Amino acid sequence: MSILIIEAFYGGSHKQLVDLLQEELQDCVLYTLPAKKWHWRARTAALYFSQNIPVSEHYRILFASSVLNLTELTALRPDLGKLKKILYFHENQLVYPVKKCQERDFQYGYNQIISCLVADVVVFNSVFNMESFLTSIGKFMKLIPDHRPKDLESIIRPKCQVIYFPIRFPDVSRLVWNCWPSRFC
Ligand SMILES: *[C@@H]1O[C@H](CO)[C@@H](O)[C@H](O)[C@H]1NC(C)=O
Repeated sequence: MSILIIEAFYGGSHKQLVDLLQEELQDCVLYTLPAKKWHWRARTAALYFSQNIPVSEHYRILFASSVLNLTELTALRPDLGKLKKILYFHENQLVYPVKKCQERDFQYGYNQIISCLVADVVVFNSVFNMESFLTSIGKFMKLIPDHRPKDLESIIRPKCQVIYFPIRFPDVSRLVWNCWPSRFC
């Protein structure tokens, strides 16, 4: 069984997480794009990966961060659509701070919601991230002028879980010993 990990924004916490997964889990295959130009990654990474990930019968699980347009990737690559799809949220676009409310681009938040509908499991890095996302869906959908979708929060919620971000502490032993009060030596 092998795990296909796709990281469309390979840097910072996104990189730390997938590197750790690759170290800890056997049989992972990792495909990445560098952590640059977030908006372009969100818009175009799915097409890029659809052309660059070779077809393989060994994959069972697809793990991707929410930068990826999962809807687009699974439509372009039905073979990947059949895998168990896990979507990981480091942040969510429904509450991402913006200067003015009008500036918020509806499309990115919308894409994340639809990606959740496509995913089998949705993982958040904190309860705050999960709850703020889920409870904002209703209000967010009110931006649609008419024929609004219904019950999305209750459809997505059962798929959701929180896995706190695994913090890897640097080796602090030297620091500890250097600072240790001399009377204890
Ligand atoms: C990504 O996903 C959505 C589904 O939310 C789709 O409608 C949208 O057009 C896709 N592509 C881009 C470039 O945003």
